[in-house]
Amino acid sequence: MRIGVLGTGNMAQALGTQWAGAGHQLLFAGRSAVRARALADRTGSTSGTFEEAVSFGSVLLLALPYDAALDTVTALAAADGTLRDRVLIDCTNAVGPGFVLTTEGGPGAARTLADATGARVVKAFNHLPDTVWRLTPPAFADGPLSVPLCGDDADALETVAALVRDLGCVPLPVGGLDRAAYLEATTAFLIGLWHSGHDPRTLLPPFAAATA
Ligand SMILES: NC(=O)c1ccc[n+]([C@@H]2O[C@H](COP(=O)([O-])OP(=O)(O)OC[C@H]3O[C@@H](n4cnc5c(N)ncnc54)[C@H](OP(=O)(O)O)[C@@H]3O)[C@@H](O)[C@H]2O)c1
Repeated sequence: MRIGVLGTGNMAQALGTQWAGAGHQLLFAGRSAVRARALADRTGSTSGTFEEAVSFGSVLLLALPYDAALDTVTALAAADGTLRDRVLIDCTNAVGPGFVLTTEGGPGAARTLADATGARVVKAFNHLPDTVWRLTPPAFADGPLSVPLCGDDADALETVAALVRDLGCVPLPVGGLDRAAYLEATTAFLIGLWHSGHDPRTLLPPFAAATA
């Protein structure tokens, strides 16, 4: 696949490195051309502007802070209709101080990004920290991680599912973009627990007990 990565920070590095290692072609773009080029050099990829990333990739990873992500893709969509065809992976967490969603009361980040761009948005990879996505593979005692995916376009979901498998994880489609708001809220809740030193896994009984 040809993947345009918007952002050069932790998530861009973690997922971009994995996908480059799996044989995909990547173009990294950021507001710092120097950081984009350095990341491209480290992964055997290319770098460019946000516009070039959109032209390059049939798939785009949006790895910017949510507000910057929305501003950036809104401007890109206004400038060029290309974004409309693209599979746009939204890994953003619009989490503000107090682990509150800054999108609260609205349609949620993924839905807002889809409405602003017309892109085929898939919410994915937002629910865990970049340190986990850097593992090769991200698997633990219970086996490979499941990665929840939310999206309205079946082909886009299958494309992102393939990228999940490239990491050594298991794709778990959990619904459409309306469901993404639940995944975003769940992640805000998880982040709050982790930051207060609590293990969310202690909240959960074994599957059989919960479903008996
Ligand atoms: N890190 C995690 O563990 C994690 C996990 C799941 C989801 N996420 C989500 O993934 C997204 C990226 O997180 P990250 O940890 O990769 O962030 P990061 O390491 O801070 O990198 C952010 C990237 O966005 C760029 N950026 C910041 N403000 C910008 C603006 N106004 N306009 C254009 N570019 C801007 C930064 O450029 P500069 O380098 O020039 O500052 C950098 O390339 C966020 O939405 C975050 O909530 C993060």
